[in-house]
Amino acid sequence: MIRFEKVAVRFPGGVTALHDLTLEIPQGQFVTLVGASGSGKTTALRLINRLQNATEGRVLIEGKDVQDRDPIALRRSIGYAIQGVGLIGHMTVAENIALVPQLSGASPEEQREIAKAGVERMRMAPDNFLDRYPHELSGGQRQRVGIARAMAADPDVILLDEPFGALDNVLREEIQDEFKELLGGAHKTIVLVTHDMHEAIYMGDRIIVMNEGRVVAEGTPEDVVRRPKNDFVKKLLGRRRKELQRFAKDSGG
Ligand SMILES: Nc1ncnc2c1ncn2[C@@H]1O[C@H](COP(=O)(O)OP(=O)(O)O)[C@@H](O)[C@H]1O
Ligand SMILES: [Mg+2]
Repeated sequence: MIRFEKVAVRFPGGVTALHDLTLEIPQGQFVTLVGASGSGKTTALRLINRLQNATEGRVLIEGKDVQDRDPIALRRSIGYAIQGVGLIGHMTVAENIALVPQLSGASPEEQREIAKAGVERMRMAPDNFLDRYPHELSGGQRQRVGIARAMAADPDVILLDEPFGALDNVLREEIQDEFKELLGGAHKTIVLVTHDMHEAIYMGDRIIVMNEGRVVAEGTPEDVVRRPKNDFVKKLLGRRRKELQRFAKDSGG
């Protein structure tokens, strides 16, 4: 269980990114954080692996305040993928993917196997990609390597910040399916940040809708979409409301 207790984040210059945020992400659930740009999703995610500190309140993982954890050990225990950047430029794809296993003492053969399985999962041929450097990849390929890296050490908690954003539509759906299949029933706690309601509904067991640093709705995709609690959620559903309602029902959360 990841628990936010009355968390506020204020940035120098006066922006309050999160207001008094309390929420719970049960162990083993796939939760999507959805909201417009600037609603505080990234800030909320980064509190979990201590890339961001709370100004007020606290974040607990399995009952333990993240502030009491060693930040390096904490980050190694949590998979994290972000859109765009994040790969280490002077390391090959294989080295990037196996970074945490290597730090944890995996042998060179084990690292190679982990990297191989990682790229295969992302629909990339190992022979073609393992020894390339990030600058030799397209944006979508880099993004897939980032996702493979987040999963490489088989962490219990995986944080994903708009991880599918740079992929074209067909590939995005393929990777989303692969990801869902791979992690469905794996009892991992996954927090996926997205501005795309469609993705939030399709991927999440539970959706948390954010606006201006506050949670404005949460529940199963069906609950949130079929009985929109407020105008904000209605607006986020927009013109596609009927379509999304049908979709939430069919994809079964
Ligand atoms: N390092 C920072 N310094 C100042 N303001 C920031 C910083 N990071 C984010 N913000 C502001 O905090 C708010 C929430 O940002 P963010 O969490 O990135 O939102 P989202 O991921 O939902 O787009 C925005 O108004 C953003 O401009
Ligand atoms: Mg963001």
